[in-house]
Amino acid sequence: MRSMRLLNDGWVFQEGFNKRLRGEPISGQSVTLPHSAVELPLNYFDETVYQREFTYQRMIEWQPEFKGREVFLLFDGAMADAAVYLNGELVASHRDGYTPFEARLTDGLRKGDNLLTVKIDGSENPDIPPFGGQIDYLTYAGIYRDAWLRVTDAVWIENVKIETPDALAAMKSAVVHCEIRNAGLISGSASITARILDAEGAEIATANMPLEGESGSVELTSLSRISLWHLDSPTMYKAVVELDHFAGSDRVSCQFGFRTAEFAADGFRLNGKRLKIVGLNRHQSYPYVGYAMGRRAQERDAEILKRGLNCNLVRTSHYPQSPWFLDHCDRIGLLVFEEIPGWQHIGGSDWKRESVANVERMIRRDWNHPSIVLWGVRINESTDSHDFYVETNALARRLDPTRQTAGVRNITESGFLEDVYTMNDFVNGSEEPAWVNRYRIPLRKQQEVTGLNHPVPYLVTEFNGHMHPTKISDPEQRQAEHVTRYLEVLNAAFGTPEVSGCVGWCLFDYNTHKDFGSGDRICHHGVLDMFREPKFAAYVYASQCDPSQGVVLKPVTWWARGERNIGSVLPLIVLTNCDEIELQYGDGMTRRAVPDRDTYPNLPHAPVVLDHRHFPLDDLGLWGMKWDDMTLTGFIGGKPAKRIQMVANPVPNRLEVFPDQPHLIASEKDAVKVSIHALDQAGSLLPFLTDPVFVKVRGPARLIGPESLALRGGVAAFWLESTGGTGAVGVEVTSSRFQLTRIELEAVRRQLPERN
Ligand code: GAL
Repeated sequence: MRSMRLLNDGWVFQEGFNKRLRGEPISGQSVTLPHSAVELPLNYFDETVYQREFTYQRMIEWQPEFKGREVFLLFDGAMADAAVYLNGELVASHRDGYTPFEARLTDGLRKGDNLLTVKIDGSENPDIPPFGGQIDYLTYAGIYRDAWLRVTDAVWIENVKIETPDALAAMKSAVVHCEIRNAGLISGSASITARILDAEGAEIATANMPLEGESGSVELTSLSRISLWHLDSPTMYKAVVELDHFAGSDRVSCQFGFRTAEFAADGFRLNGKRLKIVGLNRHQSYPYVGYAMGRRAQERDAEILKRGLNCNLVRTSHYPQSPWFLDHCDRIGLLVFEEIPGWQHIGGSDWKRESVANVERMIRRDWNHPSIVLWGVRINESTDSHDFYVETNALARRLDPTRQTAGVRNITESGFLEDVYTMNDFVNGSEEPAWVNRYRIPLRKQQEVTGLNHPVPYLVTEFNGHMHPTKISDPEQRQAEHVTRYLEVLNAAFGTPEVSGCVGWCLFDYNTHKDFGSGDRICHHGVLDMFREPKFAAYVYASQCDPSQGVVLKPVTWWARGERNIGSVLPLIVLTNCDEIELQYGDGMTRRAVPDRDTYPNLPHAPVVLDHRHFPLDDLGLWGMKWDDMTLTGFIGGKPAKRIQMVANPVPNRLEVFPDQPHLIASEKDAVKVSIHALDQAGSLLPFLTDPVFVKVRGPARLIGPESLALRGGVAAFWLESTGGTGAVGVEVTSSRFQLTRIELEAVRRQLPERN
């Protein structure tokens, strides 16, 4: 049987490549993985600082369990070019920053101490995708995902693929394909047993077959009472696969689900039922530490998409993302479009070879995730490259005939080699605000894009983004326009059956190269900022759920007479899933309004738009008149469901400081986000209070980033990172305008979810 344990601690880190590859580890900084080779400031930095070599070293002490067995070091991800040495000998190299790789230690391990060295080169090497041109994101450097030590018998299960060919039939089946390493060493007979367990761990089926050759498939048939993997009930099953032979055994377990997913010319269907895709693109980066965030931060991002924003799909732009993120998408019911690394540029033959290898690595790593419904096998927004893409498509279809392929482009009439035409449609770029030009086009017609004379499976994979960058602290008017663009595109997608859905650019703001963004090394394209704090546009998504999942009532205003040009708060968009709202201005004037179905007929929950129809005299706009408080009430079925108040004279009242998790996990490189909201007397944010706030942390945790933070848009946030100890972690936040605020959370030990 195998053992698999995390090898995240005990590393020593040094800048540059230290060629002392034998003996004692170098002296340097002790670090725990996931690790970022260079921590960056939030913005305005030189992104070349991490584009160089670094060394990670660690001792591996001989263990009796290594004797006669296979010992491998596994890396979930290291950026960008990695070489692994054991006692001076090169044992592995890997030229991709996004896919896993392994180093075989078996032959080089000696009794006593063994020195492991990992050389990381963070350079933007033009032979490695995505590099060679300009890319609109940063890749950072370091061993930024988990590392594992795996010890198995000499013959072991290398990979398992589970297919559920008739998921919609009453009696279902599962085909478990196993790949065995070193099967040639087996003398005598060997067998593979596959057991399927339900979520409670009860066995629901088992089957067995003799192993002949290097791989084999076990079929489990006549499976009854199986629940499908749905978005609202993402039932997962576990396959426990065992290899047995005279000289040894191995066992792995894999999570999987039963579902069908199909993009057709008339839209997308999950389990045979139509589903309009509403999604966002996610970059896997965080402030300061770049990509180096552990399991729970990854899971939290999936939660934000699913529960905070009601998205049903995420595109992992523009590369395979953390296994923890994908596991969580499975668990919570969030569809995934995963794609290979790349951005516009296609390199030479070595580069293309690496890219084809990336298709294989991505699919072989992730083919059991029910959440994944599309493989992106084209370099994002590249020009046509016929032979290259014939190859990537053929490979994807051979490896995984159960999923469709896609290839994201921004050019029209490009060669359609994939199963789904996926287009970044940035046509909603008209500079005229929506209320000037009611007829601006949110999405192009499918056939105008494809140039084909028949409809094809079609998904809009990006919109908005650079067409209207918007900061969390931007003026209300600009944010209202940001909101409007999201509303328009979503409305258009819902109204067009042959559009499977639309995936906005993007979920969070992200650090980028000097050639993009606002000059501050940030693309402010998110519906949330880099700290995962929402802009108004986030509520376009948040408001599209049934009120039973949460009532949303979000006026797109800071509520001030003179924040917008000329004055007034009209037109006032209220993002809501209520069926009527009432605005009370001061003590008297009240207006009732219903969702604006004339403008947004297709949205599940159209916003209410208050304008001259409700205030013909624009009584809210008159410069020189008294400005007053407002109360907004949302009604559902005639009953008040939510009420908010905004005051005319906001003054600083309190700092709300709250963590996004109740505890920190000491046994992992865990991070908990803490938000700081500067609020007025009615509980609204004070968007233009830019005071610094100071953070002090006590106990077994580290503050990621600086101790003094500026409020922007009324918010600041930081992550607390566990430092290994358990016990109370105290946080104090001070500022000249507010009373000191303290919170405390507990650092606890927890068992890590199972991994093979
Ligand atoms: C797209 C690209 C994204 C991002 C976006 C900004 O062209 O695919 O990565 O740069 O533009 O709007």
